[in-house]
Amino acid sequence: MSEDLIIAKGTKKDQYESLVPQIKGLLNGENDLIANLANTVAALKEQFGWLWTGFYIVKENELVLGPFQGPVACTRIKKGKGVCGSSWAQERTLIVPDVERFPGHIACSSLSKSEIVVPVTRNGSVVAVLDVDSEHLDHFDDTDQFYLEQIIQLIPF
Ligand code: SME
Repeated sequence: MSEDLIIAKGTKKDQYESLVPQIKGLLNGENDLIANLANTVAALKEQFGWLWTGFYIVKENELVLGPFQGPVACTRIKKGKGVCGSSWAQERTLIVPDVERFPGHIACSSLSKSEIVVPVTRNGSVVAVLDVDSEHLDHFDDTDQFYLEQIIQLIPF
């Protein structure tokens, strides 16, 4: 497939429906993890323009910063800490409409107002989390959860 992403307009659902097959195409035939994570976050960023989109990868019982798009971020997060570490510990997607109301939220950027974190589970264990931050309050909902959970399934960890 060509490396040019087609940017969809329309509803959030329309945008994801256009993006998911394109991410599938970008990942097709490639098994290098960093390459696949990098292109996945780049595609999400290009389509949605979120403040920060990236992966943290579980390494030696910590989350370590992986490929991302956005401002520089903290490099390591412990299990149970912040939204990312909580999503890992609870093994479920967390949608935070207002980060200031999430006890223990780790503020990598003062511009971040809301956040969604989706854990990537393989063989019963969390191997990474996808973290997306927005500069707008209450930016993420069930539609984001539905499609982001689909997208992370496409990545061969
Ligand atoms: N806010 C996250 C930390 C990562 S940055 O947002 C990129 C958290 O509370 O876990």
